[in-house]
Amino acid sequence: MASESIHPSPVLHALHGKVLLVTVDHPPVNALSVDVRRGLAAAIEHAESNDAVEAVLIVGAGRNFIAGADIREFGLPPQPPALPDVCNRIEACRKPVIAALHGAALGGGLEVALAAHYRLAVEGAKLGLPEVQLGLLPGAGGTQRAPRLIGAEAALSLMLSGRHASAQEALKLGLVDRVGASDDVLAEGLAYAQELLAAHAPARRTRDAQGLANREAAQAAIDAARAETAKKSRGLFSPLKIVDCVEAALRESFEDGLRFERKQFLACLDSPQRAGLIHAFFAEREVQKAPETRNASPRAIDTLGVVGGGTMGAGIAVAALDAGLPVTMIERDDASLARGRAHIEKVYDGLIAKGRMTPEAKAKILARFTGSTSYDALAQVDLVIEAVFEEMAVKQAVFAELDRVCKPGAVLASNTSYLDIDAIAASISRPQDVVGLHFFSPANIMKLLEIVVPKQVAADVVATAFELAKKLRKVPVRAGVCDGFIGNRVLAVYRAAADHLMEDGASPYQIDKAVRDFGFAMGPYQVADLAGGDIGWATRKRRAATRDPKARYVQIADRLCERGWFGQKTGRGYYLYPQGARTGTPDPEVEAIIDAERARAGITPRSFTDEDIMRRYMAAMINEGANVVHDRIALRPLDVDVTFVYGYGFPRYRGGPMKYADTVGLATILADIREFAKADPLFWRPSPLLVELVERGTNFASLNQSA
Ligand code: 3HC
Ligand code: NAI
Repeated sequence: MASESIHPSPVLHALHGKVLLVTVDHPPVNALSVDVRRGLAAAIEHAESNDAVEAVLIVGAGRNFIAGADIREFGLPPQPPALPDVCNRIEACRKPVIAALHGAALGGGLEVALAAHYRLAVEGAKLGLPEVQLGLLPGAGGTQRAPRLIGAEAALSLMLSGRHASAQEALKLGLVDRVGASDDVLAEGLAYAQELLAAHAPARRTRDAQGLANREAAQAAIDAARAETAKKSRGLFSPLKIVDCVEAALRESFEDGLRFERKQFLACLDSPQRAGLIHAFFAEREVQKAPETRNASPRAIDTLGVVGGGTMGAGIAVAALDAGLPVTMIERDDASLARGRAHIEKVYDGLIAKGRMTPEAKAKILARFTGSTSYDALAQVDLVIEAVFEEMAVKQAVFAELDRVCKPGAVLASNTSYLDIDAIAASISRPQDVVGLHFFSPANIMKLLEIVVPKQVAADVVATAFELAKKLRKVPVRAGVCDGFIGNRVLAVYRAAADHLMEDGASPYQIDKAVRDFGFAMGPYQVADLAGGDIGWATRKRRAATRDPKARYVQIADRLCERGWFGQKTGRGYYLYPQGARTGTPDPEVEAIIDAERARAGITPRSFTDEDIMRRYMAAMINEGANVVHDRIALRPLDVDVTFVYGYGFPRYRGGPMKYADTVGLATILADIREFAKADPLFWRPSPLLVELVERGTNFASLNQSA
């Protein structure tokens, strides 16, 4: 009792007439922590034993019903009661239990609702079983109750995608019994409960529902889902287990099905994929909390300017238009402006062709777009993003114009990939308004936005950049100024490691395959072919003068570029793309060029296993990631992780390169680097941060709390 008075239960119950109103009040999202589980079980016991109670209504306080199990408890010793037991207790209640849903009813939250006897949702409710996104499966009876309630096909679709269904869709699926007429979830829930009581509605158990009665249809849905999942969820652990659980729901008794689900759930809970995905979940929330967002309020951004209508300018304009912002684009001349507009229209025309947008919707969006060849059109915009050629002189000329025309307080951003934003800022009269907004290509699709923070920038400008990211639904990562910021700086190093491997004997095709098998969306040479070899070539030529002459330099890429083989856009690069093919085929001529380069460099090729390749590739990535943190370019290791997961196709289920390093063990990574350094000590210099962490016997995770 004493401990209860110190920690009041997050589950309150009070009698409303004959209805016991059970309220889960556990901010921020009513996650099912041990106290919530205890409170729910106690409320049901109370309802059973109290004659005045004839029905139970479960609701959530605040903005959500229940967002699911408490993710922060995963990996800690389990504390009873387990959620499946709580759900069984709810379902077994002899008095009707009603769940009234608003906001998030996700994962374990929806499982609580499925264990109730009747369900109501109000508009705005989000119902889903998103466990798969955390490397899990619904582990509180969800895999057994959902198919019984709504059929195997619909349940599998929800569980394998993890998507959220609206109240209306949930009604259509049979996931809820009704949608409230108003959004007052409490009033709607109480009214529904009264109605059920008046009708003498019985306790109706989902375990007895008949959604699997058509066994053939269910088996067909299971077989189809298994085939599709094996193809689509390459490398993932939990999706096939979800299919297995639904098959158990079809074939076994409810109790045996629950036991099977529990076993699979625990296996997922133990998997490194679960740890990686949950790391990614928290990391992508942590990156939003930059110091400037705590200490400053963002400036208003209602209008946007974009300078340059090329690949990036057009993509950024689409991202802003999609977010409802009016956009003014500036180009050099009318022809370039027309091209910029055409780039934008092409994106929407693609959606129309796929039936995902109507021509009217496109017209409505484009009504927010204006173009001009005069900078004066930017006089009133709140924020401008420059995306012109990657040349300092061109950028500084653009910023001089912005300085001349923009209203005081306008935020002036550059999308530069590598250039020194401090130098851009210092060249105008208002350096405090200059920030880097490094989008990734295609900018309307890629989620990552590096927010590059120059020395003189005002805190509220940085806060504005984070606010813009939110508006554009991007994942922002704060980065310091250096050559390549976080992502491209690290990329340059592991790309070099790959080039070394190639010159030493691995083919680009083997390297790409090893990298894909590790879980990346693409290998480095596929990426090079997609992005266009000319861009990297121009950068290498620019840097040639300042390159350390002692540093190893692999010339294979230059040999391809000299032949005009820039990748997909020229029909060949590392791969051949006959007749505009999107997937390349290996090119014997490239292999011959590589052989010739090896001979020229005096290298006798040796063979590498895929594991050898990945050890070097990842060691290079991790070591430079550590340098980026050590130099304070990234606030924490988790910022590097989010950059790679959202900008470079790093497998999310491994959490990011720094999380992966912790999984392998930093001492192992350091030992690898020292081993590789025996042949090339200049390239393989252990990061001081890595050395320090190994000496202290700790890991990258220990630094994630500190910023
Ligand atoms: N457990 C613990 N903390 C959680 C949580 C959860 N399930 N869901 C969200 N939080 C925390 C967030 O980390 C964040 O904390 P912070 O303020 O310290 O950063 C805070 O709640 C608010 O979250 P968001 O910033 O994401 O708030 P939004 O309003 O944007 O989104 C949401 C709310 C839609 C509920 C979103 O948080 C979400 O999708 N949560 C995860 C839902 C989920 O995956 N549930 C399944 C869990 S696994 C499970 O239930 C297993 C079961 O089958 C046994
Ligand atoms: P791009 O060559 O496709 O487009 C540049 C556009 O800028 C052209 O349309 C050109 O007409 C216009 N332009 C040049 N000078 C101008 C001026 N003075 N005033 C107005 N418009 C002018 O180049 P891209 O790829 O869009 O790159 C733009 C910037 O974005 C560069 O800084 C680049 O480093 C950066 N970036 C590029 C990425 C990519 O993958 N392509 C990714 C992230 C950043």
